Amino acid sequence: MKILNVGSLNIDHVYQVSHFVQPAETIASLSYQVFSGGKGANQSLAIAKAGGKVMHAGRIGSDGYWLKERLKNSGVNVSLIKVLDEPTGHALIQVNEDGENAIIIHGGANEGFSEADFDEILANVSKGDYLLLQNEINDIGLLLQKAKGKGLKIIYNPAPMKPEIKDLDLSMVDIFIVNESEAQALTGQSQSQAIINSMIEHYPDSAVVLTLGKAGVFYGDSMRLFFMDALDVEVVDTTGAGDTFIGYFVAELSRGSDIYECLKLAVKAAALCVTRQGAGDAIPERKELS
Ligand code: RIB
Repeated sequence: MKILNVGSLNIDHVYQVSHFVQPAETIASLSYQVFSGGKGANQSLAIAKAGGKVMHAGRIGSDGYWLKERLKNSGVNVSLIKVLDEPTGHALIQVNEDGENAIIIHGGANEGFSEADFDEILANVSKGDYLLLQNEINDIGLLLQKAKGKGLKIIYNPAPMKPEIKDLDLSMVDIFIVNESEAQALTGQSQSQAIINSMIEHYPDSAVVLTLGKAGVFYGDSMRLFFMDALDVEVVDTTGAGDTFIGYFVAELSRGSDIYECLKLAVKAAALCVTRQGAGDAIPERKELS
């Protein structure tokens, strides 16, 4: 069973700051580093580091060629990443003293997928294969429809949330992986138990993984509902923790493991990720999790 991830690749410009910059304020950063990023690329990297096999489909400019090389060197199949005459997507990331982040993204080449691109990409998978998606590329609704038409199993992480997503027919999604704010936007509910109940009610054929950061994770589908604690660790930088979680979860799922085991591994990997700086660079190798 193949895993195809159609998603963003970003160059992350990371600024360590004493506090997030306020309106009309200019602050000096304490440090500046450039990392590989993009929710899509981070998730593919995490799948590969978890020992899974993943094809990443994406769009970059020549300034981002090193992102493709980074994925390739980690074992991701990069044959569906196109290098174009467009700027690579990038992110401007502030990380404060508590390890929290504030992010601005510029989509760049990530936003240029055409219908023909989607057809070309989907020709590489068949019924029963997994499609992993986030919200950092254009025309998600069209891609969802085409993927469902092919009988793919769709795992959707609607991040970052966009207003138009609520208008899509999301019943096509097999597994949602959402954080609290994304799920709140989808359901209008604010408490985790109410969110998950509402998701299951609206999407009875889907499974829902609701990530709550250091508060843990909720899982629900029509058959079962359970909660799992997060691990207590010293937080340095939370960037990419969600992507690490998703990559490990998907990799383990594709090996046929039970959901509970997939989540246990994902929680462990995300906990290690937040103890390090950066997104792609902070994703642990599977052997580090023993
Ligand atoms: O999830 C973290 C990612 O979000 C960063 O790598 C950044 O590129 C943004 O897309």
